[in-house]
Amino acid sequence: MTVADVAVIGGTGFYAFLDEYEEHTVETPYGAPSAPIAVGTVAGRSVAFLPRHGLHHDFPPHAIPYRANLWALRSLGVRQVLAPCAVGGLRPEVAPGDIVVPDQLVDRTYRRIPSYVETGAVHLPFGDPYCDRLSAAVTAADPVITSGGAMVVIEGPRFSTRAESRSYAESGWSLINMTGHPEAALAREMRQCYAAIALVTDMDAGAESGEGVGQEEVFALFKANLERLTGILTRTIETLPDPDGCSCSTWADGIDLTYDVPS
Ligand code: ADE
Repeated sequence: MTVADVAVIGGTGFYAFLDEYEEHTVETPYGAPSAPIAVGTVAGRSVAFLPRHGLHHDFPPHAIPYRANLWALRSLGVRQVLAPCAVGGLRPEVAPGDIVVPDQLVDRTYRRIPSYVETGAVHLPFGDPYCDRLSAAVTAADPVITSGGAMVVIEGPRFSTRAESRSYAESGWSLINMTGHPEAALAREMRQCYAAIALVTDMDAGAESGEGVGQEEVFALFKANLERLTGILTRTIETLPDPDGCSCSTWADGIDLTYDVPS
């Protein structure tokens, strides 16, 4: 049964999206998700909301139950996932306050379980880690959004050293974050369309000469931009593309998935 067909996974400082909602407590083979899932109506659609870090920021990036989160959303019927997140900027073209829809991801995490696949030959295509149709709908929702660029995902919870940050920038990557992986890959494994909506909260340590990034500026900037993000999400939900036929789900046609995709 489809309870919701689209979800928003809220990032740092983004703990509520819906005014009226029904709460769903979902258990999964991977444990409990970050929080009960709120389901309400936006633009006539049933929308699920899950705060990635928990209702009280209980889970640091490396301890988020990513597998439970995507599985739980899929079990409610969710086929499209919008994923706002806080990011640092690595290059002068981006500045705090910018909203960017990245089109590439670089995984620099090392102690997370990145897959549902535990047996057999299941190798998902991930050359383009984000759904281009869903990403295009987000970009069209606000003229100030820029699109494209690579987001490197670090393990955290510490921020980067200046040398790390400079080397990421020299690699040509424009954004840095701690939660984008394995979330995007797990969504693909769950045959869901997934788009990241990155709010630049700071310039990472290598990009500026001050003290380097601190968590207060990240939280404060996210808070100051919540209304903007909410508007973008609402307008995106008004114009969602049809997920039917999208390669985000058809990649698994004919493949014997060795894990359960609930529906
Ligand atoms: N999230 C927000 N800002 C960040 C940064 N500079 N590095 C990693 N994750 C972040």
